[in-house]
Amino acid sequence: MNLNIGVIKGDGIGPEIVTEAMKVLDRTAKIYGHTCDYTQLLLGGASIDVHGVPLTDETIAGAKKCDAVLMGSIGGDAKTSPWYQLEPSKRPEAGLLAIRKALNLFANLRPAILYDELKGACPLKEEITEGGFDLMIMRELTGGLYFGERKTVTEDGVLTAYDSLTYNENEIRRIAKRAFDIAMKRGKKVTSVDKANVLDSSRLWRKVVEEVAIDYPEVSLTHMLVDNCAMQLVKNPKQFDVVLTENMFGDILSDEASMVTGSIGMLASASLNETKFGLYEPSGGSAPDIAGKGIANPIATILSAAMMLRFSFDLDKEADAIESAVAKVLKEGYRTIDIMSEGKTQVGTAEMGDLIASHLA
Ligand code: IPM
Ligand code: MG
Repeated sequence: MNLNIGVIKGDGIGPEIVTEAMKVLDRTAKIYGHTCDYTQLLLGGASIDVHGVPLTDETIAGAKKCDAVLMGSIGGDAKTSPWYQLEPSKRPEAGLLAIRKALNLFANLRPAILYDELKGACPLKEEITEGGFDLMIMRELTGGLYFGERKTVTEDGVLTAYDSLTYNENEIRRIAKRAFDIAMKRGKKVTSVDKANVLDSSRLWRKVVEEVAIDYPEVSLTHMLVDNCAMQLVKNPKQFDVVLTENMFGDILSDEASMVTGSIGMLASASLNETKFGLYEPSGGSAPDIAGKGIANPIATILSAAMMLRFSFDLDKEADAIESAVAKVLKEGYRTIDIMSEGKTQVGTAEMGDLIASHLA
């Protein structure tokens, strides 16, 4: 099979971690008799440097021609990078939000898995993590506060800023269906997270999710308030299977979930639309402070590439091979600095990529 993959290396550690994911993809393709065609696309700061804007029509058109896009990370240091002298709508992050919207990537899957081998890097007590955990955050990605009307105005001489949180029932229904579909293939449990004790958008969310649940009698549905969920994630992460939530809550909870797995450098993600197309990226940021040092953890990006094989290309065997190569390398004690613990062997970004590639078969 020929895999037609768009590549957005991005900013900060992006180019380094994507290079390792491509290394692993190429090796996987070779073993299983596929070929990879890569199209480089610009987004974020890298696009600003060339075109003056974080996202061009050319990048959107280029992405649409591919079957899937693998992405590193975008953005720089807000204090020092010239990108942040630009108005907010021209900054790197605006490009990321715009490409999500342009490609209608409404379903963001962020799995948080505690690898047995990484228990040492997990900040939670052992009695809490005993037996590990494996949860999937299903974050709505093209609605809510991120895309509602936004403005800053002076009212009666007082500067006032507005961000509006809007959801319609169709947007809620399609993401809820995705969450239940995924739950059917996993632990058959959905926890829908909202703030229904305060927000109208959350009350609608709850109502629509309950309607969708009727079509999935095998899946058990629980509603949880977002503040309680933040607490439960550190108190008892094992209780979760699929966590379904809106855009902003999902942004916050997925960072929290990643940290309880030991490091954000481990967390992959997939952003999907109604078709097989997807944008695959690590959940972590561009970490400009460590960019170019060769120490970033490429595992989240490598696992994102595995998700790409699974969801966009239906190559489950190949995806499994990558995931088990990661597990093997961790088991053998190799660690990048973010997940390093006593008695383990510290390796850099490229070495970690080489190790995973060489453990594929
Ligand atoms: C993420 C990031 C983005 C988001 C930023 C960079 C705009 O934090 O993918 O979680 O908030 O969605
Ligand atoms: Mg985030």
